Amino acid sequence: MTEYAGMKFAIGDVAVVYGGKFKQRYFRKSGDDYFPLPATWDVTNRAWRPYSHTEQPTSQECDGCHSVNYDIKTKAVTEWNVGCEKCHGPGGDHVKKPSPKNILNPARLNYVDATNTCIQCHSQGQPLTAPTAGKAYDWPVGFQMGKRLGDFWKLEEHKLGETTFTHFADGTAHKNRMQGNDFVTSLMYARGVTCVSCHDVHGTENDALLRKPANILCLDCHGPNSPNGPHAPTIEQHTHHKAGSAGNECVGCHMPKIEQTIADVNVRSHTFKFIPPSATETLNIPNPCNSCHTDKSTQWATEALKTWPQFSLWRVAQ
Ligand code: HEC
Ligand code: HEC
Ligand code: HEC
Ligand code: HEC
Ligand code: HEC
Ligand code: HEC
Ligand code: HEC
Repeated sequence: MTEYAGMKFAIGDVAVVYGGKFKQRYFRKSGDDYFPLPATWDVTNRAWRPYSHTEQPTSQECDGCHSVNYDIKTKAVTEWNVGCEKCHGPGGDHVKKPSPKNILNPARLNYVDATNTCIQCHSQGQPLTAPTAGKAYDWPVGFQMGKRLGDFWKLEEHKLGETTFTHFADGTAHKNRMQGNDFVTSLMYARGVTCVSCHDVHGTENDALLRKPANILCLDCHGPNSPNGPHAPTIEQHTHHKAGSAGNECVGCHMPKIEQTIADVNVRSHTFKFIPPSATETLNIPNPCNSCHTDKSTQWATEALKTWPQFSLWRVAQ
């Protein structure tokens, strides 16, 4: 027995390990199900953290998103992890006789279904109907590409003004794996931009599977005085930070790292909206300015924004 985060378990108890980039979780097998062991490895901080959901079997809480074709009756899978059929639908016919006609390509779907390819896993929500009496599942049981996600899944509800485990008071996601919940509230989504406009899930050289490094990616569709904005003669006049400064990068202000994955490690918001410093005072949500300028007050940030004429005072500096 070794102690991890104050909890004891032996290496021999570990039947499965999951994760890698931010955190790693360990599972024991009991009967035909897996259960999380009581500690998570925080990759960034290289530290053990306690994990409390140890009595919940992964069949209800996890496996549907961490495998392909998980069967809730037999607990069998086609494969573990994110495999081709999860996004391309059944591929048996296609393997026998490869043709673009017998395989689903998410890029040819409308923007709602195309984005749902990702939202089926990258969201917090609930199945619309309990698939098995008395058992609550955390993933869209029964959904498969080609069907409508909205017939199986609803996104986690949130009342404006309330800070919860899943949401900040203004409706921005509070925790990881909620890129879908965030993105559907954005103007870009409403205009038909999809997750794969920015990410290529088959692998890229860039962080987070981005098609291009972040700033270059944004400037493919955005530019000074372009119809999509920003509405300023130069990027520096939009950001009020020097070229090369972290404060000049689009993600710094439009995708702050405020959504908790473990301990003090956060992932980026995907609403793309600018959260004004005043919202930190009134709604207790972190704002991007003070996330970098940690030694300054929200009042300081508001005063600076008041002097930046490209922005509406009424929206960002009241
Ligand atoms: C996480 C979702 C996801 C997974 C998993 C996935 N794909 Fe894709 N695939 C997509 C999306 C979205 C597109 C269209 C946009 C693009 O090309 O990035 C695509 C496009 C493709 C294309 C190009 C089709 C065309 O007509 O241009 C091929 C080929 C392909 N995928 C093969 C595979 C194979 C083989 C696997 C498994 C090894 C796989 N994909 C796994 C989401 C996925
Ligand atoms: C089957 C569930 C599932 C689907 C569908 C899915 N993802 Fe993921 N995604 C994951 C998991 C789980 C991870 C964490 C890494 C891992 O274990 O593979 C992940 C990681 C990622 C990452 C982070 C990679 C990194 O290195 O930082 C990106 C970006 C991403 N997914 C985008 C997408 C996009 C875009 C789509 C839709 C085309 C999509 N995912 C569909 C489950 C899914
Ligand atoms: C609704 C789908 C869904 C469910 C349910 C789900 N996950 Fe995930 N999980 C994801 C996605 C998507 C990611 C990657 C995105 C992220 O971490 O923000 C992920 C990431 C992870 C990671 C981190 C991977 C890394 O590389 O850092 C671990 C560990 C993990 N999940 C374990 C679990 C466990 C344990 C459960 C059950 C208690 C669970 N997941 C339930 C979709 C899901
Ligand atoms: C307009 C471009 C854009 C769109 C659209 C977009 N993302 Fe991202 N995404 C990014 C950028 C930029 C990052 C940050 C990469 C970095 O920090 O290096 C990121 C990071 C991520 C990560 C890694 C966690 C993190 O924050 O570092 C995941 C997972 C992810 N996106 C999933 C999604 C999913 C799922 C969708 C659709 C629901 C989506 N993204 C839509 C640009 C986008
Ligand atoms: C594929 C094209 C595309 C890419 C790539 C893209 N955008 Fe957009 N973006 C748009 C469109 C289209 C709009 C809507 C413009 C309009 O209708 O006014 C938009 C709007 C926005 C808005 C305004 C939102 C609002 O509520 O007013 C912000 C902020 C934004 N994008 C940030 C980003 C950032 C940051 C990146 C890079 C991570 C990025 N965009 C990448 C196409 C894109
Ligand atoms: C230092 C912070 C900061 C940085 C960095 C930043 N923005 Fe903004 N951006 C803002 C603020 C503040 C607004 C106004 C928000 C509002 O009115 O609600 C805004 C608004 C926008 C809008 C909406 C149209 C407009 O002009 O008001 C777009 C589009 C946009 N930004 C794109 C980008 C892109 C692309 C980048 C990277 C090249 C970027 N922003 C970098 C702070 C920033
Ligand atoms: C990603 C980190 C980052 C973000 C987000 C950011 N800044 Fe900065 N900021 C910097 C850095 C680094 C400098 C110093 C270099 C420079 O001037 O570009 C700086 C410089 C400044 C300065 C001038 C020097 C000073 O300390 O008096 C002001 C004023 C400022 N930022 C205000 C803001 C405001 C207001 C916001 C939100 C709209 C903001 N910043 C967002 C990183 C950031």
